[in-house]
Amino acid sequence: MRVLLCVGGGIAAYKACELARLLVKAGSQVRCALTRAAQKFVTPLTFQALTGQPVLTDLFAAEQELAAGHIALADWAEIAVVAPATANLISRLRMGRANDAVTAALLAIPPRRWLIAPAMNEKMWASPAVQENLGILCDRGARVIGPAVGEMAERSHVGPGRLVEPPEIVAAVLRRRDLEGVPVLVTAGPTREALDPVRFLSNPSSGKMGYALAEAARDRGANVTLIAGPTSLPDVRDVRLVHIESAEDLARAVDEHIAQVRVVVMAAAVADQRPARKAAQKVKKTEGKEVLELVRTPDILAGLGARKVHPLLVGFAAETQDVEQNARDKLSRKQLDLIVANDVKDAFGKETNRVVVLAKDGGRAELSGTKIALAHAIWDMVRSRLRA
Ligand code: PMT
Repeated sequence: MRVLLCVGGGIAAYKACELARLLVKAGSQVRCALTRAAQKFVTPLTFQALTGQPVLTDLFAAEQELAAGHIALADWAEIAVVAPATANLISRLRMGRANDAVTAALLAIPPRRWLIAPAMNEKMWASPAVQENLGILCDRGARVIGPAVGEMAERSHVGPGRLVEPPEIVAAVLRRRDLEGVPVLVTAGPTREALDPVRFLSNPSSGKMGYALAEAARDRGANVTLIAGPTSLPDVRDVRLVHIESAEDLARAVDEHIAQVRVVVMAAAVADQRPARKAAQKVKKTEGKEVLELVRTPDILAGLGARKVHPLLVGFAAETQDVEQNARDKLSRKQLDLIVANDVKDAFGKETNRVVVLAKDGGRAELSGTKIALAHAIWDMVRSRLRA
């Protein structure tokens, strides 16, 4: 793969050095272009040493343009990776500016061959201007990876804005759009089962696993519908998002979309029981023993599995004991194609997960890593079964 790595001027530029190294290690031919601001953080010499190739930094340097100018590089590149993509660089790309070597080269490459890895302070990331600029680049066909959530360079700041780790960017570079046009449905997050207007039964699902599955499918070209319970996660760009509260809402929403999809992945942590009645007013304390009557919610996945014709079904099993055996039971009882077994202590709310994926055809895979990496591994397993 011929990769043009375009480095913007943010503190995460130091990670672009590792990215260049890993891309070379993965067998790619790598050429680099640095903005003026990037050169305040890292030097062209570093990238030259890592790639063994001259680095483009200056549109007006006669020797650079003679060796392989910005148009020659644009013609050569199969993919352009912009990492880190700063707010300034994203805005220049949206406007079609060509006022340095990086933007001039990128302007000559179709946006559908760009992979943009944003990195900036979380408040800058949240700004409507950045979101709108990136949205327009996506509309033009650019792929976006990240940003990751975590601690910013300014230690007291936490949020979305970190550059995605270099190994994940490499994986995204090498990955093909193997789900192009495939309609898929992903569910994520917890459900809330109301007791009264201010109280509910729920669980600690953050939605991260399901959102990662939606994001990964989108990056592989799928048409994604994400049905999500209450989470604090930002919307996933270019994914149809349907918000629900309770298990019954989720059942209805799944029912509305099921006829149009080829794959359903149920990562939502669905309540198995709900209070038998929702009190119209806040329930008051009473003397003596207080008893809560619960009734079962519909088992959505089992309902889909029991249909004569249904999409490929992927369930999750959140277990506290006998993880694999319990998941295997759910695989056959709910008539699923795949089930992802996770020990809840490794899963809820975390950035990473450790799972065993079991297939009805006997396949078995142990996976661990970031939720986005796991999501891709799960889609790999789905993809091979869709083909069959
Ligand atoms: O959201 P995160 O913080 O990232 O955490 C991820 C996760 C732990 C929530 C996720 O990885 C996970 O395990 N999700 C499934 C949780 C769950 O409901 O497991 P279960 O074993 O109770 O259910 C088995 C399967 O049946 C699940 O796919 C579930 O979506 C589905 N189900 C469950 C109950 C129900 N009434 N209807 C269902 O369809």
